[in-house]
Amino acid sequence: MQPQTKLPKVGTTIFTVMSQLAAEHGAVNLGQGFPDFPAPQRLIDETAKAMREGLNQYAPMTGVAPLRQAIAQKALDCYGAQVDPDSEITVTSGGTEAIFNAIHAVVRAGDEVIVLDPAYDCYEPAIDLAGARAVHVALDPQTFAVDWDKVRAAITPKTRMLMVNTPHNPSGAMLSAADMQALIDVLRGTAIYLISDEVYEHIIYDGVRMNRRCVTRNCASARL
Ligand SMILES: Cc1ncc(COP(=O)(O)O)c(C=O)c1O
Repeated sequence: MQPQTKLPKVGTTIFTVMSQLAAEHGAVNLGQGFPDFPAPQRLIDETAKAMREGLNQYAPMTGVAPLRQAIAQKALDCYGAQVDPDSEITVTSGGTEAIFNAIHAVVRAGDEVIVLDPAYDCYEPAIDLAGARAVHVALDPQTFAVDWDKVRAAITPKTRMLMVNTPHNPSGAMLSAADMQALIDVLRGTAIYLISDEVYEHIIYDGVRMNRRCVTRNCASARL
């Protein structure tokens, strides 16, 4: 007897499908992030050096301290956000793991999580596995803009989390300063957690900049 899957809705990922098709047809593969340039030599050298020096032991669960400090410094340099490297940064082995962990840290069985469609296909399985329900709100099919009235209308007493993604996969659309304000207004006065997936924060074109509003308690100033 076949064991019953916990994720009956999940088939082969779109990445696998598109990459296989691209390989079959010799097509340019825009479906998955395959850099068409080599890894920087400095990265290769420093990794080899660290391994030669014996830096191959278990890291602390939250990530090695100098890396967390460097990430905090980057958040400060790029966005003026003061983030505590010891209590507010956790290093994971990629975005997918970070998203999974963040969902499972706070989302409980019976909760609802608002997802803006189309969305990265790892979101919903993580929500399903938490025993929660993804509530889908469609982005504008032409512009991929968020209709904040629709988001507001999707909120119920069960809403535990809202997920946003900027720059957005698959469209590249970005949340504007007005969107950020709308996001703040929608969440103000609620206990809803926000996951802001910004894995493409450095892949931005046409001179556009990330719209960030620093809302942590340590950083009163707004930076847009
Ligand atoms: C929107 C979005 N978030 C997160 C990820 C996951 O990133 P990682 O490859 O680091 O797991 C991806 C990867 O495709 C993505 O498209």
